[in-house]
This record gives sequence, C-alpha cells and structure tokens, in this order.
Amino acid sequence: MSYVVALKCRNCGEKYQIKPISICDECFGPLEVEYDFEKVKENISREKIEKGPKTIWRYKELLPAGKKIVDLKAGLTPLHRADNLAEKLGLKELYVKNDSVNPTFSFKDRVVAVSVSQALDFGFDTLACASTGNLASSVAAHAAKGNLNCYIFVPADLNVAKITQTLAYEPNLISVEGNYDDVNRLCTEIAGYYNWAFVNINLRPYYAEGSKTLGYEVVEQLGWEAPDRAVVPVGSGSLLTKIWKGYNEFLELGLIDEVNTKITASQATGCSPIVTAFRSGSEIKPVKPKTIEKSLAIGNPADGYYALRVLKESKGTAGSVSDEEIIEGIKLLAKTEGIFTETAGGVVVGTLKKLVESGEIDKDEKTVIYITGNGLKTQEVLISKVAKPIKIKPDLNEFEQALSAKQKILVKEAGIW
Ligand SMILES: Cc1ncc(COP(=O)(O)O)c(C=O)c1O
Ligand SMILES: [Zn+2]
Repeated sequence: MSYVVALKCRNCGEKYQIKPISICDECFGPLEVEYDFEKVKENISREKIEKGPKTIWRYKELLPAGKKIVDLKAGLTPLHRADNLAEKLGLKELYVKNDSVNPTFSFKDRVVAVSVSQALDFGFDTLACASTGNLASSVAAHAAKGNLNCYIFVPADLNVAKITQTLAYEPNLISVEGNYDDVNRLCTEIAGYYNWAFVNINLRPYYAEGSKTLGYEVVEQLGWEAPDRAVVPVGSGSLLTKIWKGYNEFLELGLIDEVNTKITASQATGCSPIVTAFRSGSEIKPVKPKTIEKSLAIGNPADGYYALRVLKESKGTAGSVSDEEIIEGIKLLAKTEGIFTETAGGVVVGTLKKLVESGEIDKDEKTVIYITGNGLKTQEVLISKVAKPIKIKPDLNEFEQALSAKQKILVKEAGIW
C-alpha cells in the first residue's frame, strides 16, 4: 500500500501525476513526492516500525515504494555512541551513524533501493546514473540483482576502488573526460533521448526520498528523539535536506514531540559552494572542484538553494576543511572509534573538530555525525599517510628484535630516555 498522491513542485506548488519526471513545466523547479499524511498517520506507529524489517523498508509508509523491490537490504546501519572521539574533542554526547556498512558500502544504497523500486513500477528495464563514485556501484549492484540493463556515467579521475567495485557488477561503465558537473549535463541530455531510468535525473524525486531514512533511523536509534546537532556531508545538498525532512515528518506524525536539530553542512574547502554561500551570506556560485574528496565534488549543486534554506531554518551552520584536515579526520575516526571511512567521512570529522574548537558547536549538544562511505573506497589518499608495516622473516628472533626496537622507539617518544 502506497500513500503517495502526487509529485509537487518545491517552488510553485504545481502538482503532477506520478511519472518519471523531476522538473516543473511551469517554473523549472524541482519536484518532490507528496503523501496523504492523514492516511499515513492512521497506519504508522513506533511499535509497528520497531517490528518491521531491519532495512529501510521498515518506513515503507513514508517512501514511494513500488510493488516490487530489489532488496540488497540497505539501511538500519549502526548508531555508535562515540565516547573516545567525544573525549578527544571535549564533547559530552557524540554518536556516529555508520552508514559505510551498507550493501555497497555507502548511503547511496538507500536512494537506489527506492528509485529502483519505482523504476520497476514504471516498467523500465534499464537503470542509469551520473555518479561521483558511490552511486555508480550501488546502481550497478541493484541492476545485477534485479537482472536489469545498466549504464553508469562517471568522471574519468575517479578513485580506483570505486571503478573496480562498479566494474565487478558488470554494468556498461562510461568514463567521461570532465568533472561531475560535465557528466551530469551530458546525462541530462542522454535522458531526453533514451528511455532509461536515470535514478538521479528523471527519477530524482523518488531517489531523494530514500535519504529521509537516515533521518528516521537516527531518531529511532536515539530512543525516539531528534539530536541537538547533525553534521552532514554535502555534495548536491539532497541528503542534507532529506535528513531534515525525515526528522520533521516524524514530528508531524506525532512520533516525536520536538525537533530542535541544528543541521550542519560539511564540505571540502576545494569544493565548497554551499558552505561558502552560507558563511558569506551570498547566493551559491558554482565552482570547479580541486580536492582529494571526489564523492562530494559537485561544483554546481542541484539542491544547493534548498540546503541553504535548511541551514537557516534549523539555525545550523556550515564548515569546510582542507585536504590535510580530511586525512586527519579519517585517521582520527579510525583510531578513536574503530570506524574506517572514506574522504566524505574525513570531511565530516574534520568539520566537527573545527566547529567544536571555534565554539560554533556547543560541547553540551547531543551530536550525531553522518559517516556515509567506507574507507576501502579511497585508500589511495591514505597510503602515504599511514605508518609502514614492520617487515620480518618468519623467525622468532627476528620478531623479538623488531619488538625491542619498536619498544625502544616508543619509550623514546614518551620521553623516558
Ligand atoms: C559518501 C557520500 N556522502 C555524501 C554524499 C552527498 O550526497 P548529496 O549529493 O545528496 O548531497 C555523497 C554524494 O555522492 C557521497 O557519495
Ligand atoms: Zn513549479
């Protein structure tokens, strides 16, 4: 049973039938899925959700779920209380939403699961996307599982692991000589000629709804409470706006009593159009990305305007970090919490640290950081920044020599010598 009633323009409010479209004919504004909230309210409760599947489909009343799904079991990823990292930064109560353990190792499995379900309902037999890397592997994996054709378009300078992972699912992978914004422009053109389900272009309204589940889950996992602060990685801005929407839909449905979450955007300084606009109080100016952070490297963010609105409405803030700070962020999370994230997670941890140090994030706030991708995807940025392994022959004496040499170094570093 779906409670979806229409597509609605986020700009002028014009309504459309449920179709594979994403832009308003009247004003070119983006379309969003609309639900019959009165009916949803009658059919949803905390208890019902808690008894549901351990995937995003526990929130199916609030998703544009088609009749069929391709189920790789995305969602319900762990929320860790992060006391070690909290202590290091001087925070009172910090949580890590570890979404890097999804089926293809990023949060993109949520948006893909929802849009593929809708694609099947529309009768498409071919999936496609423009991707900064993580969407590519998720779409390819869902196409493989659902026996669908698949065309993936990515910028040519992508991380090796993201390309290898995607190719393992055997899609048609098209590597475009250009940045993500070039890839996206090309795909928008291609989508006009080919009858394919481009999950983040003609199916974008449905795709975007999948990210709301990252709002719902955190509230449920905190014991039916929205956090005081959420730090979110930002590319197009869609994820950030949908986390906020997720918290507020639970409020509207009476599942929680209040939402006072300050939504906080994080980007790499080398591609930070949304953070720059927020901090300077200006409009978003497109940029050419120049950073090791590829997942968020969107110079002309499709949902930038709406992301800025959420930052203002929620009384949040925004911060960006350098490439060095991204690496430090990845290492800090790994060594304090045992969670290995990709560069997007390094951006989030680096931004959290920076904003706590500057006093913009209050140490008493119950804070959640969203870690949305896995460290195995961007290993090349780290390889020269970690210690070397200790090499020995398979011999006990060699081991003991190496150990005593290591201990001498440790004692020396501790200043005992
Ligand atoms: C790991 C990761 N986190 C966050 C994002 C940002 O998502 P959005 O484009 O919805 O802002 C992306 C986008 O590709 C991503 O790959
Ligand atoms: Zn409109």
